Amino acid sequence: MQRRPRRNRKSQAIRNMVEETRLSVKDFIFPMFLIDGINQKIEVASMPGIYRYSLDLMLKEIEECVNLGIMAFDIFPAYPESKKDKFATESYQSDTFYLKAIHKIKTTFPEIVVMTDVAMDPYSSDGHDGLVENGKILNDETLEILGKMSLAQAQAGADILGPSDMMDGRVGFIRNVLDENGYTDVSIMSYTAKYASAFYGPFRDALDSAPKSGDKKTYQMDSANYHEAMIEADLDTEEGADFLMVKPALAYLDVIRLLKDNSNLPIAAYNVSGEYAMIKASAERGWLDGERAMLESLLSIKRAGANVILSYFAKEFALLNKG
Ligand code: PBG
Repeated sequence: MQRRPRRNRKSQAIRNMVEETRLSVKDFIFPMFLIDGINQKIEVASMPGIYRYSLDLMLKEIEECVNLGIMAFDIFPAYPESKKDKFATESYQSDTFYLKAIHKIKTTFPEIVVMTDVAMDPYSSDGHDGLVENGKILNDETLEILGKMSLAQAQAGADILGPSDMMDGRVGFIRNVLDENGYTDVSIMSYTAKYASAFYGPFRDALDSAPKSGDKKTYQMDSANYHEAMIEADLDTEEGADFLMVKPALAYLDVIRLLKDNSNLPIAAYNVSGEYAMIKASAERGWLDGERAMLESLLSIKRAGANVILSYFAKEFALLNKG
């Protein structure tokens, strides 16, 4: 036998040398859930180890993460029903707790990357990402609202906006609003290929943001589709996106690879709430080694071509990496 691939696997030291993919704490964006109030830290039932924080405690948590080397955070707000309406009006009130918190976080930690979410669902009494009329999601009317929300988030100090709504034309629309108002430096990480997925369930629990009726299939992509992701990627690129994102990650590793191979933009992947919950739930039952399953799935996302990974495992990974 001339070739024996096992030679390159014979010790940990050799395996370390030939390893093709390496995870780093720099790869991560840590998604966090914000609630109004003080001294609040409430675990999300379906996401053990993940909490909804009031701003004071979130600042402490961010500081801990920064000390572990995590430098990017995606903040999602959870609003009470009383603040929601059909038009997501709360989303662009300058004194709303989310925008005030973004400002405070950014001024407390000027060196970190603060990403915000652009979509109507946390503020919408219909629980949809767009404006609902007679059971239909209106595209162009939604853009106006997303534009106001984006400008308000930029004014609050966000470094990166993450439009997660999947309306057509929203990246270009938001880019124009930002530029016309002097926010040419604010980046857009577009949820480019965001699929209508069962894996968002725990996130909707965390934010109480599930649709009140219907589903998100008229705007989020069909899981069956692969080539369609390139239509979205081409449009987002033309419209000025700075990053393209695939979401969820694990059931769509082929789509991550597709975008990586066909775009020169950095590719992000969102390791979503359900992917986190699956590993945590089976680890709690002793059915999987949670730590190894976490590392293997994060590695697979990077190996598929992701430059940036949004993951609820970010802190756990950073802690492991330190220790
Ligand atoms: C909504 C939004 C969702 C997520 C991020 N932004 C849920 C949805 O589209 O219903 C999901 C994140 C996760 O599951 O971790 N704009």
